[in-house]
Amino acid sequence: MLRSFVIGLLTVITISTAMAQNLVVIKARKDLLGDMGDAAKQPGQMMKQEIPFDADTVKASLDVFIAKASKLPELFPEDSKSGGKTEALPALWNNKDDVTSRFKKLVEAAKAAKDNVTDEFDFMDTWPKVVGNCGGCHKKYRAEKK
Ligand code: HEC
Repeated sequence: MLRSFVIGLLTVITISTAMAQNLVVIKARKDLLGDMGDAAKQPGQMMKQEIPFDADTVKASLDVFIAKASKLPELFPEDSKSGGKTEALPALWNNKDDVTSRFKKLVEAAKAAKDNVTDEFDFMDTWPKVVGNCGGCHKKYRAEKK
């Protein structure tokens, strides 16, 4: 009796801790951001001329940014400030409007870029303007890598 009561209690505590930290939403946003990181890789290598320029790959990456960044503003609720190895800084929750508008700007930049990446010179010019949105936000709202 006592044993199952204790187990039951522990389960309740574990579940409520998980809910307080909203691990599901933290994982969801990390997955979307991770997809954007993966999508940024090949165009990044093209920028450094490590692999040949390919317009279709770049456009596919821009589509990933558009799709994922559109969903991200919803994925920073109040109960997801800690836990799940989040790297998001507390400052983010004091500046939600800024965060939302930064994701919007990224989406707009990626949409605008789609017509400007058909040749390599345009790509070289355009790509940094798109990914500048990533670094700008990380500097303010993502913990430095240790
Ligand atoms: C408006 C803010 C913002 C923008 C714009 C943004 N990020 Fe992030 N990014 C974050 C935050 C905050 C985190 C930390 C999330 C966490 O750990 O909960 C993060 C984390 C990441 C991660 C790590 C994900 C993981 O698995 O922990 C990658 C990769 C990443 N971002 C790539 C990108 C790329 C590529 C772009 C641009 C195409 C971008 N981000 C644009 C805010 C942003």
